[in-house]
Order: sequence, then C-alpha cells, then structure tokens
Amino acid sequence: MTGSLISTLEGRYYTDPGIFAQEQASIFEKMWFCAVKSGDLANPGDFRTVQVGRESVLIARDRHGGLNAFLNVCRHRGARICVDEAGSVKRAFQCPYHAWTYALDGKLIAAPNLTSMPDVDRVEYGLTKVHLREWLGYAWVCLADEPPSFSDDVLHAVTERLGSLEAIDGYEIDQLSVGKRIVYDVKANWKLIIENFMECYHCATIHPELTEVLPEFADGYAAQYYVGHGAEFGDEIKGFTVDGSEGFGKLAALEEERDRKYYAITIKPQVFVNLVPDHVILHRMYPVAVDRTIVECDWLYAKEVVATGRDVSRSVELFHRVNEQDFEACERCQPAMSSRAYARGGVLVPSEHHIGGFHEWLVQKLESAD
Ligand code: FES
Ligand SMILES: [Fe+2]
Repeated sequence: MTGSLISTLEGRYYTDPGIFAQEQASIFEKMWFCAVKSGDLANPGDFRTVQVGRESVLIARDRHGGLNAFLNVCRHRGARICVDEAGSVKRAFQCPYHAWTYALDGKLIAAPNLTSMPDVDRVEYGLTKVHLREWLGYAWVCLADEPPSFSDDVLHAVTERLGSLEAIDGYEIDQLSVGKRIVYDVKANWKLIIENFMECYHCATIHPELTEVLPEFADGYAAQYYVGHGAEFGDEIKGFTVDGSEGFGKLAALEEERDRKYYAITIKPQVFVNLVPDHVILHRMYPVAVDRTIVECDWLYAKEVVATGRDVSRSVELFHRVNEQDFEACERCQPAMSSRAYARGGVLVPSEHHIGGFHEWLVQKLESAD
C-alpha cells in the first residue's frame, strides 16, 4: 500500500492474549511505568498496589519520607502482602499467612521464631525491590533488572513534542494538586487508546466541545504533531472549560507565550499529558487484559485553587467528555478487531500516518524480546 493510505496493525494485535502477554513482558515489564501520584502516599505507611505487566507492585512511603517499590509477594511462601489497592499500615507490612513482617523499606524485621534462625539474612529475605523514580510528582517504576535510560525513554517524549525538556518546567507539575480524579474502565486494548490519542482526525466527529475551544482541531490535522506547536484557543474562548468560560489564572511560572495554548504529549507506553494554561491533565493507563484497560485521569491545579475549594467542574467537564467520547470510540472498535474484515488491519490517512511510527515501535519491541 502506498500513497495516501498506509496499513495499520492486523486485528490480532488487539485480540490475541499471546501478543498481550508478549507486550507485558517486553514493554510494561521493561520500560518505565507511571504507577502512582506521589502525593497520594503522603505519610509513612501509606501504600498503593498497582499491576505492572503481570506483576503486582507495592509502593509505600517509608519512615524517612522516601518512596519504595516492591514486588507484592511474601518471600516465605509467596502470599500476596497487600490485597487492597490502597491503604495505610502503621510501621510495617505483615504477611497475613505466617506473619513474616517487613519494614516500610522492605527489610524483613520479624517472623515467628526468626531469632532461632540466625542464619536468615534480613535484607536478602526482604521484599524484592523494584526501581522507582519520581518525576512530575508521580512515582515511575521499572521492573527491568537494568532499567532503560529515563531520559531516553521518558524525558525524550517531552523534548520531541515541545522542542525542549525545559518547556514543561513552567507548568511546575510536581507542585500541582489533584482537583479531580476519574477512573475509567475501558473495554478496549491499550493500543486503541494510544492510537486514538495520537490523532485528531476524529475530533470533528466526536469532540464538539473540544473543537469549539480549539478550532484548529476541527480540520483533523491537529497541529499537535509539529514540534513545539500548541493549539491556540478560539478567539471567543476565555478558558479551557466545557463552555469556553473563564478558567483560573495561568499557572504562576508559565511563560506568556504558552497562555491560551494547548499541548499534548504521549509518553509511551502508558501516559498522556495535556497542558493548558491553568491546569494539567495526566492520564495513566493500566492495561489489565488484551481487551480491557483501566485509565486513571488526574486534573491537576495550582495548590491554592484546590485548597480554597474553587469550582473546577467546568474545566473537568471538558476533558471528561473528551475521555468519554474517546473511550466510547475505542470500545466501538474493540469487538471489530476480531472480525475477518479486519484480519489484515485497516488503514491510516495522511493525518494519521505518524501512528505508523507507533506500530513500528511496537513491532520492534516485540521482536527484540529476550
Ligand atoms: S507466606 Fe508470608 S509469611 Fe508465610
Ligand atoms: Fe479524542
């Protein structure tokens, strides 16, 4: 196929549990994965469990204020340490099976009869550590023994989109507070969600509110693909809200030139960042099955906006509608991925051709699997 139309991936990439397992092994368990908002674990003992690839990962704040990540598996006979998605423990994690007890930094600190087994090394039999790094106010974890370079894999996505890494600094994302979080249970393969996010050919059809605010999105060639370009708000638009009404003041450190502009960044494999003058919307995807993805979306505002209880509902509503419109489209595609009509895939029009780059990336990841 040449010219205007290029091929997509074949349908089986979205339905085959074997391919999904390969993706878990060679993408989600190898790359940096944005797991949890650091501020959600405010105090020592606060924890959260997340599924990363095929593993359950336990992330907790320790007594010194740091975050640690572990495999959520007892070193004794393998019981899950925490079954809750989030919670708080006092001083330690105690396995509910035979009561092996681990400090918040993972070290084995107690077990029935442990003192009569002096040869048991408490670090060696501590919880298995997972690499963790904080950036943008989120904890990113990596299950690889040797994690890939954070700058090549994560930071580079920002440089590629905005033209420089510093361009994101003015939003001071790590200083913002969560004004709203919505968790979406999307019955679609994670790649459908990424591909959808990467193109705006659908904007005119399914996003009436968004195209009202960002008129250039209506022509399908979302300027979001050109390095450094931000989509301009429409002339009558006062803020990034569902009805174009006034938002909040621009974030304090944000450059004048970024006022009244929207930027979107895809950080492979599971993060989307949307930047507007007065807030930031950050999506984390948790692929849980070949045909199901949990998406956690945070609307982040200046601290004082959240602390003083300002009404964020009109700005939340805009992207919440966009999310619902997008996820409905993805769910509409998912069942058709197994149709014989899609056995050899579909096609990408010119304004979607860059999605071909995502497909090449994916195939190459799968081929380079150990
Ligand atoms: S399995 Fe955890 S203490 Fe035995
Ligand atoms: Fe969309």
